[in-house]
Amino acid sequence: MKGILLAGGTGSRLHPLTKVTNKHLLPVGREPMIHHPLKKLLDAGIRDILVVTGLEHMGDVVNLLGSGSAFNCRITYRVQDEAGGIAQALGLAEGFVGQDPMLVLLGDNIFQASLADAARSFQDSGAEAQIMVMEVPDPGRYGVAEVVEGRVLGIEEKPLQPRSAWAVTGIYFYSPGVFEIIRTLKPSGRGELEITDVNNHYIRRGTLRSEVLPGWWTDAGTFESLALANQLILGESQ
Ligand code: G1P
Repeated sequence: MKGILLAGGTGSRLHPLTKVTNKHLLPVGREPMIHHPLKKLLDAGIRDILVVTGLEHMGDVVNLLGSGSAFNCRITYRVQDEAGGIAQALGLAEGFVGQDPMLVLLGDNIFQASLADAARSFQDSGAEAQIMVMEVPDPGRYGVAEVVEGRVLGIEEKPLQPRSAWAVTGIYFYSPGVFEIIRTLKPSGRGELEITDVNNHYIRRGTLRSEVLPGWWTDAGTFESLALANQLILGESQ
């Protein structure tokens, strides 16, 4: 299985912290944010990892992570020229992934659980895609899954009136067919290729599976959630 770490975007919600650096280089606990999802890929047994980030801070990201040898893995880099969305960034991974399944992590998702079991169940299931969901108090900030009797019927991106409290986390498993789907996407209202559209495609086909993510989880893309991520990570290391 290949690993993909998406670390692009402008980090506008964290301005001015992100004026001269990439969001994923900001501190979370005792390390830069991006170290945490990177370690989750390693923990799931993945050793071949693609990091996608914007042009402006690619140099700093490469300086931080290098070839991957310090982490006992191999890191490849791709530039996302403009902030065109998560699905667009994932589209850049096609050549790197080849015919392998992949685990895609958003670089600002900070969480407790190991993904080793989820990776195994995805591969054993024969599903084409797998999302990890989490019950949250503020679902409207996320992709929200409508779940009926354990089945995901659809996902809405940042709905004003969420149909459930199940947030879709930035942890996605895909088969290599995902690139065909990305090619068919049209930009959303916010001008981005949405990962939620990719997942809804698989829901319509009946080939998306979902699992509940155990333990705690947060994104770290706002001041409040960045503070929470720090608190949770520091709590772990005590
Ligand atoms: C993205 C996705 C959203 C998902 C979230 C998880 O949102 O679009 O579906 O729930 O990541 O962190 P973003 O916060 O990047 O806008």
